[in-house]
Amino acid sequence: MRTKIVAGNWKMNKTLPEAEALILELKQKIKPDGKVAVIIAPSFVNLPKAVELLKDNPIKVAAQNMHFADSGAYTGEISADMLKAIDIDHVILGHSERRAYFNETDEMLKEKANQAYKKQMTNIFCVGENLEDRQKDHHFEVVGKQLKNALFELPIQAYKKIIIAYEPVWAIGTGETATPEQAQEMHHFIRETLAKKYGRDLADKVRILYGGSVKPNNAKEIFSKPDVDGGLIGGAALKADDFQAIVEAAKS
Ligand code: PGA
Repeated sequence: MRTKIVAGNWKMNKTLPEAEALILELKQKIKPDGKVAVIIAPSFVNLPKAVELLKDNPIKVAAQNMHFADSGAYTGEISADMLKAIDIDHVILGHSERRAYFNETDEMLKEKANQAYKKQMTNIFCVGENLEDRQKDHHFEVVGKQLKNALFELPIQAYKKIIIAYEPVWAIGTGETATPEQAQEMHHFIRETLAKKYGRDLADKVRILYGGSVKPNNAKEIFSKPDVDGGLIGGAALKADDFQAIVEAAKS
């Protein structure tokens, strides 16, 4: 049995006072348990406060990105050690917005995934095709390449700290969700790709989250699919009630 995960990606939202208010509300409303783990990813400037507020709470805190180098002349960037020094050991890597707007390539993401492994951080690694890839029926090929190019040089033990998030770009923030069947089909493909490379045992253990317009009204059906192990939630993670409902959907 794979424990489900619901992770909230706050993207570039919430000032410090707003983040604080949302976290306090989440602490009241959200009770992770043996069936579901909960992660939130506020922006960098709000991370120390998030860690402080969630110190004795099972909700975990993740960063939305990090650099692949240990340190150096990379103005505006954040290193793994900086995150670890404030007790953050989860990071989202390769989100489609990073790939599309900040030109993150598979090559860079390979370096970042290696760095996460080296620094013993949990890597929530995002993959997903865009609309054109899907329309041309290239979606399996695209997602397969994203996985192979960035992750397949890692040793099998690295996967203890890798969570895959499948996020079809055409479903992110658009209100258009992949159908539960489309999600299942791709999650199954991802699991089989992992099985071919690393063996069935490993593939059966890796959690694969779905992301892209997950809302309280569709979460349960998506999460009920056998290869869907929870969700990476954007817009609906910014409202405590919606996020709570999605966490509850993952428990049932
Ligand atoms: P969305 O974003 O839920 O707002 O579509 C998901 C994501 O980008 O992680």
